[in-house]
Amino acid sequence: MSEQPANGSPEDPSTGPYRGPRVHTHEPEPDHSDDPAYVTRTKFLTNVAVVTGGVMTAAILVPVVGFAVAPTLTDEEFRWVDVGPATEFVQNAPPYQNVSTSQQIGKVTSLAVSGPDPEADRRVFVRYGPKTGVVVPTPSAEESTAQFEARYREVVGSLTPEDFDLIVIWNRCAHLGCPSAFSPGSGGYVCPCHGGAYDGRGLVTAGPPPRPLDRLDVKVVDGNSSEPVPIAEVAANMKPSYKVLIGKPYSIDQEEQPFALHNPGEPVTGKLSYLYPFQ
Ligand code: FES
Repeated sequence: MSEQPANGSPEDPSTGPYRGPRVHTHEPEPDHSDDPAYVTRTKFLTNVAVVTGGVMTAAILVPVVGFAVAPTLTDEEFRWVDVGPATEFVQNAPPYQNVSTSQQIGKVTSLAVSGPDPEADRRVFVRYGPKTGVVVPTPSAEESTAQFEARYREVVGSLTPEDFDLIVIWNRCAHLGCPSAFSPGSGGYVCPCHGGAYDGRGLVTAGPPPRPLDRLDVKVVDGNSSEPVPIAEVAANMKPSYKVLIGKPYSIDQEEQPFALHNPGEPVTGKLSYLYPFQ
């Protein structure tokens, strides 16, 4: 007598119901790739990563962009400020006769101004002096003292009031903002912090400043008129009613071309200036 399988045989129904292990038929997972509403785990994690990245990028960029754009949106008010009679600032004007090398050419007047930092020595220098391109001779090693004095007399003696202008230079160093000082010996400006040096017109001659010293608008008016009087006319007439008005600050490049006011450390020309597009 043949032995019946304990669990029955799946092929022979006469052995009773089969109760043994069966082959598991694997049903494939339904394919939802065409269903836009179905979110797979991969898709979910990708979305989480994208959203997290977006939030982090916004957290970094929003303050930076806001910081850069905000100054352009705030309409700052500037007004002309009367700093005194022109006779205080327009001095030692040409023509010069038998001029000596020690004679002062023009004048630099230092004025204290208020600023956001009361500890800083904030000043402006009102400079009446030779325009750009007018070079006042300095001694050279190749010539004797007598030769230099003769050359100096010839050049400086030929200057006219038309060779002079009036500019206002802000003493905030263009490197990191330390207060620069006027150096009477060189006629330029020096910064005590990192050795920045500027010439008489505030153009960089040495050190790390990325641009010249900033300037402020300036004009001379007669009495209550708002029309500017040419500086040569001011020097020729020296009326007591002439007064000097100082206005809005701005930045310049080494060619003295004007730019919107930049912060210390920001160049106004060259590739790095593209980092500071909003001014
Ligand atoms: S702050 Fe003037 S040279 Fe650095």
